[in-house]
Amino acid sequence: MDYLAVKTLHVSCVVISISLFGLCGLLQLQSKPWRQWWLLRVAPHIIDTVLLGAALWLVWRSGQYPFVQGWLTAKVLALLLYIGLGMRALGRNTPPAQRPSYFAAALLSVSYIVGVALTRSPSWGLF
Ligand code: HEM
Repeated sequence: MDYLAVKTLHVSCVVISISLFGLCGLLQLQSKPWRQWWLLRVAPHIIDTVLLGAALWLVWRSGQYPFVQGWLTAKVLALLLYIGLGMRALGRNTPPAQRPSYFAAALLSVSYIVGVALTRSPSWGLF
């Protein structure tokens, strides 16, 4: 498989995944029943599986590994934080008053991941 094609797949899934999360989050904040829509309930799982599959392939083919390369370590740890915050933002049991904070924190954490990916630096190359 072509490296550039898989990287394009990874980045395309990133764009779709963040857009779907943003959409679900905004609908959730407006108390809209977004779980009724098949696309919003199922598509994120499919997209995120492809995103992570492509990530693992890129790790393998580029020979750059989490817990060896600092930027990939930062990506994995921030991804775990993003998943946790995203689950709280969208979870059924989260008090409505707490949702906006979790949603904003999840968007900040995924923005950090994108910055790390683009700069290949945990500090975005700032220091
Ligand atoms: C929400 C999570 C993620 C986001 C937002 C994200 C974002 C990105 C972006 C924007 C790029 C392209 C960077 C460029 O222009 O070269 C990229 C590349 C890459 N990502 Fe991810 N990524 C995520 C998760 C992961 C994970 C979990 C891993 C590995 C465990 C990973 C491994 C890689 C690798 C190896 C590349 C290719 C870097 C290169 O060609 O040197 N990504 N990612």
